[in-house]
Amino acid sequence: MKILILYFSGTGNTEFVAQYIKKHLSCDMFDIELFPLELFKSENISKYDALIFGFPVYACDIPVFIQEYLKYIPTTKTKSVFIFCTKALSSGTSLKHAIEIFKKAGYNPLGYADVKMPGSDGLAFLKKDSSMAHKIINIDFSTLEGVDILVNRIKEVTKYLENDEVERFCLNVNSNIANSFFSSILKKAFIVMEGWLKRKFWADRNCIKCKKCERICPANNIKVNDKVSFGSNCYLCMRCVHQCPMEAIQIGKKTVGKFRWRGPLGTYNPKQ
Ligand SMILES: Cc1cc2nc3c(=O)[nH]c(=O)nc-3n(C[C@H](O)[C@H](O)[C@H](O)COP(=O)(O)O)c2cc1C
Ligand code: SF4
Ligand code: SF4
Repeated sequence: MKILILYFSGTGNTEFVAQYIKKHLSCDMFDIELFPLELFKSENISKYDALIFGFPVYACDIPVFIQEYLKYIPTTKTKSVFIFCTKALSSGTSLKHAIEIFKKAGYNPLGYADVKMPGSDGLAFLKKDSSMAHKIINIDFSTLEGVDILVNRIKEVTKYLENDEVERFCLNVNSNIANSFFSSILKKAFIVMEGWLKRKFWADRNCIKCKKCERICPANNIKVNDKVSFGSNCYLCMRCVHQCPMEAIQIGKKTVGKFRWRGPLGTYNPKQ
């Protein structure tokens, strides 16, 4: 059975979980391929039997640019999808929303996981020697319980994919997995913060004009010439801030000299 793990990761958390799933799912039964969203041609999805889709939670929801991508996503051969998200505190309505979107696209959502990870929105504001930064560096990521449950579900459900029985595993959109009240407040606060934050990106004098930020920005929002310019299309994924080799990209003044994060293994390096 050919399985595609497709994900978006800004700072490396979602990519870590995608790799974890691949490792724990690997067996003779599955031929598993793993791709970041921005490097995958979506028309190729129809070559796979099942899809495992992962995204980071932004403002208690699916990031808007991923929602746009999912509107036009083709189905896999068996129309089956398993969904996971990574979050810092609350995934809010994101999984419920993802189930709805995939159903609209013709999929049978068959399982999900919601995985707690360090919050990519706040990491660059932490002091490098703070107790919080030490705590995060020392988190044991070797076992992700919620993901193990999803992996077991994938192994179980995929036995039924080739016959009509699979319908009975299909998730209900009304599943009690959303805290709508908390989500709606956070979404409103996020919209206000978002516009303000996007205008605060700049590169300090440590920049060596290597253009890495320009190459890895998923929104094509950065241009490096005599200086580094940021456009108005930022997804706020935080990738550029954490990936700049000189730690030169700042959001206002409060990130200067602060903590940077390259995923749980410290090796996240998005392909360009
Ligand atoms: C713009 C932005 C908004 C976020 N909003 C939320 C949120 O509403 N709830 C939450 O639990 N985590 C939130 N986070 C944290 C991320 O979902 C979390 O750190 C995720 O694991 C990041 O994954 P990545 O490293 O693959 O990008 C947010 C992060 C960013 C950058
Ligand atoms: S990645 Fe950093 S050093 Fe390289 S061009 Fe961008 S801001 Fe400058
Ligand atoms: S400019 Fe915005 S979208 Fe581009 S990498 Fe930086 S945070 Fe992400």
